Amino acid sequence: MTPQEKAATYERVTQEIEATLKGETDLLAAMATVVCLLHQAFDSYFWTGFYRRVGPTKLLIGPYQGTLGCLHIGFDRGVCGACARSQQTIIVPDVHQFPGHIACDPNSKSEIVVPVFDRAGHLIAVLDVDSDQYNAFDETDQRYLEQIVSLLARFEPAPVVYYPSKEQPSGK
Ligand code: SME
Repeated sequence: MTPQEKAATYERVTQEIEATLKGETDLLAAMATVVCLLHQAFDSYFWTGFYRRVGPTKLLIGPYQGTLGCLHIGFDRGVCGACARSQQTIIVPDVHQFPGHIACDPNSKSEIVVPVFDRAGHLIAVLDVDSDQYNAFDETDQRYLEQIVSLLARFEPAPVVYYPSKEQPSGK
């Protein structure tokens, strides 16, 4: 893929994400949409997903597409943890050269991890994209992925499971 093709693909995907999320309010649905459209758009994306912040220094997987990922990552581990700590995008051209990289899948060769913030500027997740090729990510990926995750700042985390209670009408 040439640099021009990469930029054009990101332009298209960004528009698809914006169009699909128009009127949507649920953060998890928005994250799943971002993951799906990005993962489908790039052949080199081997693993595409979010790690959500679930504690002061804890990340939990999902949503994601790709092979099985590590479920829990502390801020002290791996590229995702380093991104969460620094709150800066990290590009790793060769994961084998990154001290502490978490090798969930041996096919992963390079990656980019982008911090995700809410509207108040608090870190709520990181977006992790892995490639099965070395040196797959550059400033173009960083620019577009940071722009895409900034779209998530307007969403509110919402309860995702509805628990029926006995007091509520049964609908019969
Ligand atoms: N690459 C990550 C681990 C998670 S996965 O590769 C799915 C890291 O070192 O933070």
